[in-house]
Amino acid sequence: MTVAPSVASGYDRADWASAFRNVGVELDGVELTASRGTIPPELGGTLYRNGPGRLERGGQWVHHPFDGDGMIAALRFAGGKAVLRNRFVRTEGWLAEEQAGRFVYRGVFGTQKPGGVAANAFDLRLKNIANTHVVRLGDQLLALWEAAEPHALDPDTLETEGISLLGGVLKKGEAFSAHPRFDPGHHGDSRMVTFGVKTGPSSTVRLMEFSCADGRLLSERRDSFKGFAFLHDFAITPNWAVFLQNAVSFNPLPFVLGQKGAAQCLASKPGEAGQFWLVPRAKAKPVLVPAPEGFVFHHLNAFEDGATGELVVDSIFYDDFPSIGPETDFREIDFDTIPAGRLQRCRIDTATAAVAVEVLEERCCEFAMVNPTRQGLDARYAWMAVAGRERGNDPLQAIEKLDLHTGQRHVWSAAPRGFVSEPVMVPRSATGGAAPAEDDGWVLVPVWNGARCASDLVILNASDLSEQAVLELPLAIPYGLHGSWAAH
Ligand code: CO
Repeated sequence: MTVAPSVASGYDRADWASAFRNVGVELDGVELTASRGTIPPELGGTLYRNGPGRLERGGQWVHHPFDGDGMIAALRFAGGKAVLRNRFVRTEGWLAEEQAGRFVYRGVFGTQKPGGVAANAFDLRLKNIANTHVVRLGDQLLALWEAAEPHALDPDTLETEGISLLGGVLKKGEAFSAHPRFDPGHHGDSRMVTFGVKTGPSSTVRLMEFSCADGRLLSERRDSFKGFAFLHDFAITPNWAVFLQNAVSFNPLPFVLGQKGAAQCLASKPGEAGQFWLVPRAKAKPVLVPAPEGFVFHHLNAFEDGATGELVVDSIFYDDFPSIGPETDFREIDFDTIPAGRLQRCRIDTATAAVAVEVLEERCCEFAMVNPTRQGLDARYAWMAVAGRERGNDPLQAIEKLDLHTGQRHVWSAAPRGFVSEPVMVPRSATGGAAPAEDDGWVLVPVWNGARCASDLVILNASDLSEQAVLELPLAIPYGLHGSWAAH
């Protein structure tokens, strides 16, 4: 049953594309007031967001927005007020290119240095652009980019402190995923569980568990698997780390020869399905299970079903690897020709490797999450970004709350002129000893407002997606990647 009315497609491509721009200013603590509604006074903490903030240099555009330099925005909430701050991450690449006024590095997603193929061939340096996620770990704020080390930032001022090897845990240049999962306390205190991949003809996954309180490494393990690995995200349960290895191949030659970015050298293997790599968090051997066909960037959640003994994994599946060809301008992509994401549940019998698949949501979706206190458990609700219309591929313009037990849906839409980035669900804190309901809290949604050509932050009631407040930011932020909430 849809509670809020659905909205027919009908966005203006110019509105959608107007978000692709450079962030032109760094704000240092601007107090915001709600232009509609009121900021809930109980909402206390900081929303950190990361995403590409620089898409053009010297008249040249990035080939894909994912090549844009990481820009962090922080919205600090206390007592019904909000303060906004934003800073670019001072990566080596950002500093060099700011000074040069042009691209000095190639981008993984196909951005080339000026000067054609000859200028790009054999330049295999990686530009760590720190643009994918931002999380608190102990007293550090980390800007993440999966192919290299994190950058540490001051959590208050967002000043870049520099590359962090996490107290010697990482080697220089070591890959460190941009998709940590936060275990809310399945093994005592809360942990940040994450991974790094070293890939080639065989791939090694390093699984790491850190104490959220002080950032200490609590445990790690390394497992090697046959074949090239493209792992962007993973999921956790109390006993498992769940990876889905997509059926993709990597031919680095066009990258080496200066014709393509490294990520453009990935290709799906037609007719082949991927594989789940199930890594026990304790000392036991990994289990390999054939995965259904399709390509996965992001998972919603995973859990162990106590009744059936199955491992249940919810993921957003695409029919194929969505890529932008070397000749295509990303601002002109045809949504009808690229695959749409749909939320699917895989029930895995780890003893027999049998997998049963169920579609949870047909509507094109991305950026899904459960209440963070239910991470790794049989969570009842999911919050996600969805397309403006119920079928077909379109830009993400609405937020959906899905009841995973009953299928009931609530939808809030920013259409026709608003376009959403990843929603972050913030649970209400327990007060007076009573645990709040799983959907008690707020959903914080960055919205590109095509009418204003600027960004809004919309606060929704997590339970029914009613609009609580709209903050019109004095800032224009391109579509972002991931963000997180820190309660302090
Ligand atoms: Co991601």
